[in-house]
Amino acid sequence: MSGLVVAANRLPIEIGPDGTRTPSPGGLTSALSSVTVEGTQWVGWGGPESGRQSAFECGGLRLHPVSLSTDDIERYYQGFSNSILWPLFHGRLRPVELDRAWWRSYRLVNKRFARAVTRVAPLGGTVWVHDYHLLLVPALIRAERPDLRIGLFLHVPFPNVQLFSMLPWRDAVIKGMLGADLIGFQVADDQANFVAAAGRLVDAQVPGRTLFGGPHRVEADSFPISIDFAHWDSLGDSAKAQARDHRRELAAGCVFLGIDRLDYTKGISQRLQAFGELLDEGRVDTETCSFVQVAVPSRSDVPAYQDERSEVEALVAKINAGHPRKNGTVPVIHIETSLDEAEMAAWYRAADALVVTSLADGMNLVAKEFVAARADLGGSLILSEFAGAAQDLEGALIVNPYDIEAIKDALMAALEMPAAEQASRLETMRAAVRSNDVHRWARIFIDRLESSTRAQAGGTSLRSSCRGFIRSKQAGGLS
Ligand code: G6P
Repeated sequence: MSGLVVAANRLPIEIGPDGTRTPSPGGLTSALSSVTVEGTQWVGWGGPESGRQSAFECGGLRLHPVSLSTDDIERYYQGFSNSILWPLFHGRLRPVELDRAWWRSYRLVNKRFARAVTRVAPLGGTVWVHDYHLLLVPALIRAERPDLRIGLFLHVPFPNVQLFSMLPWRDAVIKGMLGADLIGFQVADDQANFVAAAGRLVDAQVPGRTLFGGPHRVEADSFPISIDFAHWDSLGDSAKAQARDHRRELAAGCVFLGIDRLDYTKGISQRLQAFGELLDEGRVDTETCSFVQVAVPSRSDVPAYQDERSEVEALVAKINAGHPRKNGTVPVIHIETSLDEAEMAAWYRAADALVVTSLADGMNLVAKEFVAARADLGGSLILSEFAGAAQDLEGALIVNPYDIEAIKDALMAALEMPAAEQASRLETMRAAVRSNDVHRWARIFIDRLESSTRAQAGGTSLRSSCRGFIRSKQAGGLS
């Protein structure tokens, strides 16, 4: 798509000390990487080692690194983004530390991102800003470059107005977001929370899904993000042999699986506790039933994440110590490194059930990857009602992750479910993810951005170029 500039905290790759490039962590970059193609420009941080590197080409994209000092990382990234906005937007699962120096840094870094965007965006181009790190960027861009179309997508939940109102800088954040022409949320509740907050806090007028936050019109709607179905379907197919090896190595009668960034929002302890109690009660067999938990360390300089890691490690050690096996192996296998996609697909295929017990989660793309990787129609998905994905995946076993008995029952139901029922549930879920994959998500968002700005200014049509952008990806796209 000509003229598209993506702005996200992270570039799709992280640059190592020796110049090596590795894919960035998290669902945001993996989802976006599968829809951006040749010619897209991407403004973001390339990791602590990217320093002051200038723009470069990578896989057909032009990447513009934004440099973050040690101070910025501490205050803007670990501080304001991940110790204020992240816990606040996830329902205050951890205390929100309202440090004013972090706010100052967030504003400065948002200005730096906005400047980088306005420098590279072509006249009349389209900018797509992503996530909670950059909420001031839309208004900053608009002030400098009113010729640009600006979309904003929030990958995480948006809290209710009472909770959001505790933020001393709430008005500035809302006004920053209202600089966009179109604001996308994962689910309708997030959109409604934002509209209520904008109406109450900055007096935005709200006819339906349209807000007037100033002289221009802003649309807000839900656009549930998804994955590249065909890609994960084929990864699942290629992983059959490795999945069989996993089950053989585990001598497994049953395998439960969790794959997450190690984050307190994911409810990792809740699911492990449920599994531990099933072992205690003899409802599953210690010798043959395993829980494989992949928990990839994340934001490890933030104290709440260090605490979470200690808590999960202690729980794993306790369960394993309480349930020794005759052959010396352990029932909970805790993998603390990141896996590549092929390795993840092999675990998806090996599992009797993927267990997603997030306490709050914008979408949860792991749930959708699992569904796409299971063309064999085997296995079950246990899914938290508080993950956005629960609204898209009819056929999952939905649980309240705070209810340990309910998780235990769901684990048992997954083990006892007849193969025909597993297959029919998976068919329903696969149809949903296949028909609403990440390409459709991007197309719908960009089409809507185009029509909202056209309605406003009678502007030039973006439609044909957007179609080209999506189609070229479907035909092979980015390698
Ligand atoms: C979530 C956020 C993303 C973020 C990712 C990884 O998916 O919504 O914006 O990039 O986590 O977190 P990190 O802090 O490592 O970028």
